Amino acid sequence: QSSAALLKWAQAASRGFAAAAASGPSRKVAVLGAAGGIGQPLSMLMKMNAQVSQLSLYDIAGTPGVAADVSHINTKAQAKGYDKDGLAEALRGCDLVIIPAGVPRKPGMTRDDLFKINAGIVRDLVEAVGKHCPGALLNIISNPVNSTVPIAVEQLKRMGVYDKRKIMGVTTLDVVRAKTFYAEKNGVDVASVDVPVVGGHAGVTILPLFSQATPKVSMPQDVLEALTKRTQDGGTEVVQAKAGKGSATLSMAYAAALFADSCLRGLNGTPAVECTYVESTITDAPYFASKVKLSTEGVDKVFDLGTLSDYEKEGLKAMMPELLASIEKGVQFIKSG
Ligand code: NAD
Ligand code: LMR
Repeated sequence: QSSAALLKWAQAASRGFAAAAASGPSRKVAVLGAAGGIGQPLSMLMKMNAQVSQLSLYDIAGTPGVAADVSHINTKAQAKGYDKDGLAEALRGCDLVIIPAGVPRKPGMTRDDLFKINAGIVRDLVEAVGKHCPGALLNIISNPVNSTVPIAVEQLKRMGVYDKRKIMGVTTLDVVRAKTFYAEKNGVDVASVDVPVVGGHAGVTILPLFSQATPKVSMPQDVLEALTKRTQDGGTEVVQAKAGKGSATLSMAYAAALFADSCLRGLNGTPAVECTYVESTITDAPYFASKVKLSTEGVDKVFDLGTLSDYEKEGLKAMMPELLASIEKGVQFIKSG
């Protein structure tokens, strides 16, 4: 039964892909860190995206195998693997660059503990983006996102090629989790659920706005607080369950593929609204995740937070010291480097 359903889905999907192949503009997408836990399933999902015509899979090791494997999927995107010497070619002409390169957490670590290794990885990859495809949209997944996005921005500013519409920290997994947990707890159809998640991407800086969730369900305060905490600790829940074998990869690849799809839709003239961590003026923090409109040049509009409940106002206040410190740490990494 399920394999018949899968076959039916695949047939329908390939008909859809064929139609899109005839009509869509040519879009080149790169995944940097493509052989990793996120990189592999994300590469597969991007190969299945009808908006992609060329797919560059770059990693410091393991890309030939991943690229050969992914390239056999019968969709229009031409997938090609690149190793250390191929970064320039991987990036040339890219419309969208997705970066999941870097080390993941182990139990007991915070995302900030990854800064030492990942800050330099992100800086160097973004420098290559600034050199070889400065106009591309950049989706940054590597943690700590609260710092790696400022690192990317400062690096591009230093090179004189920064455009604030192009740089986005991927916080879609927080939205995916909030939707799942809200639907489960309230017994509503998950496909109908929307929950904005704002702030940053670490612990208390992750603030789901359940007061704005749809469909609207009124929850007792203790349930609301438990849902908020579970969303904030969603990453840690997975890190602990994986017990030393990394952090979220499959749900992250799904979330990154959704976000990348919205970015490509925007580029192709169908604006989309997503929560993402960007340069922002809607709060006291110079970077903040909120709903944005993605359009032909990237981030077209950053929406303000709307009406917050008292509990959410407290959450917003409580996150600021950590968020501001993480941002400053990223900025100083480039300025004093
Ligand atoms: P992983 O170790 O499985 O994969 C990382 C990949 O990056 C490896 O293949 C490695 O070879 C590659 N890499 C390392 N240095 C590189 C470089 N200089 N250039 C290109 N590739 C390089 O890790 P993972 O589970 O895929 O996680 C990757 C990152 O994503 C981590 O920092 C993790 O914390 C982060 N993450 C973020 C979110 C989010 O919501 N934004 C969610 C999950 C994980
Ligand atoms: C997540 O939210 O799953 C990621 O940021 C990975 C992590 O370290 O929790």
